[in-house]
Amino acid sequence: MADTIHASADLSCDPLWRQAEACLRTLYGDDHRFEHSLIDLKARVADACSARPTALRHLDMTRANTPNWFLKPGRPAYCTYIDRFAGTLEGTAQHLDYLEGLKVGIFHPLPLLKPREGNSDGGFAVADYREVDPRLGTMEDLRALAAELRARDMSLVLDMVCNHTAREHPWAQKMLAGDPAFADFYIVLDSANEVAEWEAALQDVFPDTAPGSFTYDAGAGGYVWTTFYPFQWDLNYANPRVFVEMADSLFFLANAGVEGFRLDSTAYLWKRKGTISRNLPETHLILQALRALLTLVAPSTFLLAEAIESQASVLPFFGTPQARECDLAYNNGVMTALWGALADQKAGVLKTTIARAGEKPAHGHWLNYVRCHDDIIWLALSDTAAPERLTHWSDFFAGKGSYAKGEAFQAPEGFPASGCGMAASLCGGKDDPQMPARLKLLYGLTYALEGVPLLYMGDEIALENFDAYRDDPDLKDEVRWLHRPVMDWDTAGRRHAPGSVEHDMYAFHRQLADTLSAIDFKPGQSVCTEAEERLVIIERPLAAGRFVCVANLSAEPVIHKVAGRVLIGSDNDTLPAYGLRWFIEES
Ligand code: GLC
Repeated sequence: MADTIHASADLSCDPLWRQAEACLRTLYGDDHRFEHSLIDLKARVADACSARPTALRHLDMTRANTPNWFLKPGRPAYCTYIDRFAGTLEGTAQHLDYLEGLKVGIFHPLPLLKPREGNSDGGFAVADYREVDPRLGTMEDLRALAAELRARDMSLVLDMVCNHTAREHPWAQKMLAGDPAFADFYIVLDSANEVAEWEAALQDVFPDTAPGSFTYDAGAGGYVWTTFYPFQWDLNYANPRVFVEMADSLFFLANAGVEGFRLDSTAYLWKRKGTISRNLPETHLILQALRALLTLVAPSTFLLAEAIESQASVLPFFGTPQARECDLAYNNGVMTALWGALADQKAGVLKTTIARAGEKPAHGHWLNYVRCHDDIIWLALSDTAAPERLTHWSDFFAGKGSYAKGEAFQAPEGFPASGCGMAASLCGGKDDPQMPARLKLLYGLTYALEGVPLLYMGDEIALENFDAYRDDPDLKDEVRWLHRPVMDWDTAGRRHAPGSVEHDMYAFHRQLADTLSAIDFKPGQSVCTEAEERLVIIERPLAAGRFVCVANLSAEPVIHKVAGRVLIGSDNDTLPAYGLRWFIEES
């Protein structure tokens, strides 16, 4: 099909094009700019199809019958900042053996496109979607890294910061300069009254450091919609031209060798007065159209939803088999509940969230994780856990009366403060003899879940909090930098020294990966409703028998009889404090 498109550039009859067109017509059919935008979009899709490099077309073909190719068994995703991991893109290429040692299958560097100068929210304020941050390298370096990763059977995933651009982005600059083609690219309200009307239903993301969702901008002549920081201007997706530009930016990066996109802040794309302006049906239509068009241009490229919302709100981001949206989504509900279970030493809410995660459609998959570069947002579990539990967890990981060495982060009024800190520190830190067992418990459970496991840089060697952020004037006001450390390669070198915690953790991750890659899983997963509340037990079907992961969430030994071949942990009937066991029950 792709070749026909390249040859004729006539998309009109292609079912994927028609699917995208139908979504866009629903969204924009009444807009006078629509028909022209559609012609423009069609030309860009055709151009992107013909510009697709041969090596990537080949990849598309080899993956044509395996749409879930990214579920590489035993191959975790690895997430890091390029500058903090290796300085530059070229430098990163020097550390691929380190990633191979962990059997990494997906490499996700956090935003590396050209950001605005100064504070850029860790790169999430993009000034150009077609250029790399010059401090990190060039587009050529990015293509080279993508190719090198491909050669090693690793896939490059990038963020697509699709909800907003930096104020410095050319689209914003052209709007400010009065260019009519960019007149309506952002949302600018005229009066403080209007702002108040919208704000009444909105929820602040950064209530302390960036209160409100609007920023007065004299150049723009009004109040610009800024969900996050004032320099991050929300795009106006009610304008069909915005969709065209964003889709085209995605095609450009896909053709540079990006094999998957993390769609940043996906929940926020569409706004409607009187609503919280998150997870609206129009946002899902945008994603359906994007998915269909990306399948035309770069069929083997996946979309990952970053929607840190309640589980009920995240599930729709997979779409349906007929109207697919994202291929993967962060399993935020389970991640948050996992930390809660560690604090409570009880499975409670964790079991509920694992069961609910199972409600996903077969074509969608979870990205399972323990930590990432953001805070743990307790309020995302508000519909599942009692408010006093959430408050307890928030306090616990902020170190109030507990072993955890984390810090509180801002949350909307009336909700418990979110949590910051590296996993090792939240588990007690290197001085706490229980830390390695707790950290292994969390990762052992996460790797056992159906989906793609994510390893956050540093956790594989139990790197602790980056306290030095407080000494950096550019970072000191943002607690999230506490868990964005600079990779310490000297410490990492100790992974070769048996007896060190680094060796222990790195070898453990390798063992998890090796073990998983030898198992022939079938789709599906269940969580046992065992009466022993200190245990969580996950089961996954195999061709013959089943895989079982048992974790003791408590600081006390618990009896649990092994009924099978043990893969990880001991085969003793007593599961030690924070003990983890994987085994196979043959049928
Ligand atoms: C996402 C990112 C976060 C950023 C925000 C605004 O949630 O993960 O780090 O601050 O979007 O771009």
